[in-house]
Amino acid sequence: MRAIDIQGDTGDSTILVGEVLESLGKYAPLEKTAVITDTNVRRHYQKDFPSCEVIEIGAGEVIKNLDSVGKICQRLMDMGADRSSFIVGIGGGVVSDIAGFVASIYLRGVRFGFVSTTLLSQVDASVGGKNGVNLGGYKNMIGVFNQPEFVICDMNLLKTLPERELLSGFAEIVKHAAIGDPRLFSYLEENYEKAINLDPQVIEKLVSDSLNIKSSIVNRDEKEKGERRKLNFGHTFGHAIEKTTGISHGEAVSAGMVIASELSKKTGYLSPKEARKIESLLKKLKLPVRLQIDPENVLAAIRKDKKRIGSAINFVFLKGISHAVVEEVSINALDEAIRDLPDCPRDQVTVLTDISEVKNES
Ligand code: GLY
Repeated sequence: MRAIDIQGDTGDSTILVGEVLESLGKYAPLEKTAVITDTNVRRHYQKDFPSCEVIEIGAGEVIKNLDSVGKICQRLMDMGADRSSFIVGIGGGVVSDIAGFVASIYLRGVRFGFVSTTLLSQVDASVGGKNGVNLGGYKNMIGVFNQPEFVICDMNLLKTLPERELLSGFAEIVKHAAIGDPRLFSYLEENYEKAINLDPQVIEKLVSDSLNIKSSIVNRDEKEKGERRKLNFGHTFGHAIEKTTGISHGEAVSAGMVIASELSKKTGYLSPKEARKIESLLKKLKLPVRLQIDPENVLAAIRKDKKRIGSAINFVFLKGISHAVVEEVSINALDEAIRDLPDCPRDQVTVLTDISEVKNES
């Protein structure tokens, strides 16, 4: 097992890579703990839960809203949870976002931690202290920075993930490599098949290396005033694509990273060879890279992005693989830029093959 520390203004957090759900009692006071989990996780793993109160929420991004938050707080009140209570979110990114947000506001805040059950939440969503919910279909518009006391990344739990859910997690690992770790990038290029097949050593290394990048950035800039913005590589278009197409977060971030790489190339920052390497790695990991999207809808979604500053947005470019820079660009300039992407008809941004498959599966 490896422990990775985050020291935040809101508290310290220890990420336990390779720890197991059954050891939860070492980190949380079980007699005072309420578990928040989703339907799927409960179905697979309730047998391993400690014997404490369980609040089950549905599943999917669609339930990550204030209505769910109100219902969970009501359940906590009904069960007599007080300021000494402890909340543990057992699940993926949706569960950790809701559980972390509820724990931060219930009775003005109670202690909390997570058992992270998806690859995407182990390498990103559950780590770093962002907890929030969506509003009006827009992502994470309401939320707080507040560090969980611990995040258990139990690799055994990844075995029951549907393949698309697993692959989504690789998008965030590629992101971490692309913004700050050339060795991780090469390792992924060499070991992508083992990664997809959940080779235990490869997965544990990918999760640990990814968390090293993320935690070091969060330790320097917890509240995203500067460097943490680099973690949004691929996310400006990613969030907009997720909203307008309904594909999963990781899939949309994959396509968003390809657009960001293209724009980095167009700006003269990234060589065509490096842009191709990023796209090729994402393809090897079976992630969608070029989607048919409607520029009007995507740009309308970007204009509502919570990271927008007036008519501009902080956009993450690459100046090379593992060298990210953040620059404020006007949203109108992004609009022009995506319409000018190579091979891209005026009314359709790039392309490709995978979207029909992706949609058919859902
Ligand atoms: N997921 C990006 C961040 O935690 O800042």
